[in-house]
Amino acid sequence: MEIKGRGFTLREWRAGDVAALQRNADNSKIYNCLLDVFPHPYTMENAADWVSMMMTQDPLLVFVIDIAGELAGVVGITMRNDVYRKAPLIGYWLGEAYWGCGIMTQAVKLVVDYAFANLDITRLQAGIFSTNPASMRVLEKAGFIKEGIARKAIVKNGIVLDEHCYGLVKE
Ligand SMILES: CC(C)(COP(=O)(O)OP(=O)(O)OC[C@H]1O[C@@H](n2cnc3c(N)ncnc32)[C@H](O)[C@@H]1OP(=O)(O)O)[C@@H](O)C(=O)NCCC(=O)NCCS
Repeated sequence: MEIKGRGFTLREWRAGDVAALQRNADNSKIYNCLLDVFPHPYTMENAADWVSMMMTQDPLLVFVIDIAGELAGVVGITMRNDVYRKAPLIGYWLGEAYWGCGIMTQAVKLVVDYAFANLDITRLQAGIFSTNPASMRVLEKAGFIKEGIARKAIVKNGIVLDEHCYGLVKE
């Protein structure tokens, strides 16, 4: 399955994505914006494990952002359990070489449309570190609303940060 954007495609994972995943993901500027579970340094073993797991997805929730036939980033949905089961998270990162070209704004919009059309959900949400205005801008351009700020909710690299909470409700 593929979703076409301008200058990129959202697609399923392939065994051949490991090397490009490692190359793009092994970047402290990306790690600094994500959960600590995102490896740093990002090794070939980390990449191989992730790609194997992604290739078993059913339904497809996490997409490769493919530029010119190669993995350039990742965008997808993380489902949650219990009372939060209709309010999954959206997450994303893009290789630094591709920043600032409007790619992630488009990719987020495409995944929102896919998720609202195919999943039994009421909303999508994301918590952005206070140090990441570019990601807040991406969500705002994609229609998300800043619903609040969870003060001192995050500790990243030993520094306590606020979490900016964004949501988009399915109308
Ligand atoms: C955040 C990220 C996904 C943005 O991807 P991108 O394709 O460059 O995003 P876009 O080009 O679609 O939009 C970026 C917007 O942020 C703005 N921006 C960039 N740096 C900014 C800054 N320091 N302050 C304010 N706005 C900024 C850009 O100007 C642009 O807005 P505009 O179109 O109004 O000019 C990318 O930088 C990334 O992967 N970062 C590391 C991982 C990460 O942060 N993931 C999200 C975790 S919540």
